[in-house]
Amino acid sequence: MSRSVGILGLGKYLPPRIVTNADIVAMGIDTSDEWIVDRTGIRERRIVDESMATSDMAVIAAQRAMERAQVEAKEIDLVIVATTSPDYLGFPSTACLVQDRLGLRNVGAFDLSAACSGFVYAMTTGAQFVETGHCKKVLVIGADCLSKWVDWTDRSSCILFGDGAGAAILGEVQPGRGIITSTLNSDGSEASILMIKDGGTRSMFSKTTLDTQANHIYMEGRSVFKVAVNTVVTALVDSLNKAGLTPQDIDLLVPHQANARIIEYVSGKLGLPPTKVFSNIEKYGNTSAASIPIALDEAVSEGRLVPGQIVATIGFGAGFTWATSILRWGV
Ligand code: ACO
Repeated sequence: MSRSVGILGLGKYLPPRIVTNADIVAMGIDTSDEWIVDRTGIRERRIVDESMATSDMAVIAAQRAMERAQVEAKEIDLVIVATTSPDYLGFPSTACLVQDRLGLRNVGAFDLSAACSGFVYAMTTGAQFVETGHCKKVLVIGADCLSKWVDWTDRSSCILFGDGAGAAILGEVQPGRGIITSTLNSDGSEASILMIKDGGTRSMFSKTTLDTQANHIYMEGRSVFKVAVNTVVTALVDSLNKAGLTPQDIDLLVPHQANARIIEYVSGKLGLPPTKVFSNIEKYGNTSAASIPIALDEAVSEGRLVPGQIVATIGFGAGFTWATSILRWGV
């Protein structure tokens, strides 16, 4: 019989520095608090100091998750870090840096690149190792430091992102608890609507990169919005069907925190009242791969997610990628 796999503990890290919409206006960006709140729901975000990188946030979130799960370093078999803002381009992976800093020995460690869908992709991947018996405890982290990738002269994208990390320890749980079903999706034909154009092997970093800012995030906001809303509702309904569930069975929806209007659209389509939808976007903006584990952590701390409940997560982001995972909460 296959094992049930669930989340044994969660942890998060948000940098202490708060950057409000007013602070962005004060930086000389042609925008306003009113416009940002109205179009995105974001009031402030957390931004790292210059010296901090993605692995620093990931390590703290992981330590907190290990503490909550009461799991020691020696029990962890595998580390997966979902990130698209690694400490180093190419290699070494951020996961290896995290593995070393946590003192984990004889474990596999790799990064997973699926942008804002990264955590759901990584959780689904990590769960396979536990289900097959290959691993007992898997550390899955979603961590991003997109403030360092943002073009701070582009008002349509710089207002959206914040930094943070969220971590989960995956392990075996009692039958009937944990991940019920997951789906991973992609459509590379939409790659160009959200990308970092320079710095990879397609278009290497050059002198002109500095003038064009092409090593920063390029985003066609409206297209991203459309693809997101057109894909995630169908994906979640398909996923629910697969599990013999309907949207009415969802106790809490934890969507990727990209834009309050996307969250409202999706929950409206699913017929879910605001009490069944978790959102913290006004405090943190879009923390990319970190947004879902941070939201799960807060939902548990606030008592909005308790054992026995059905929680549905949906990630979507660059690639284009989207992914869902439905869990019956608890161990
Ligand atoms: N302040 C004031 N005006 C602005 C701002 C701003 N910060 N940004 C854009 N505008 C202006 C535009 O210039 C435009 O002006 P114009 O009509 O004179 O040309 C006007 O506002 C409308 O622009 P739109 O782009 O149509 O605005 P929209 O309502 O679509 O909101 C937004 C833009 C917030 C970016 C929205 O499209 C969005 O959230 N898209 C999804 C983005 C997203 O989620 N990205 C992350 C995905 S996850 C990942 O993997 C990284």
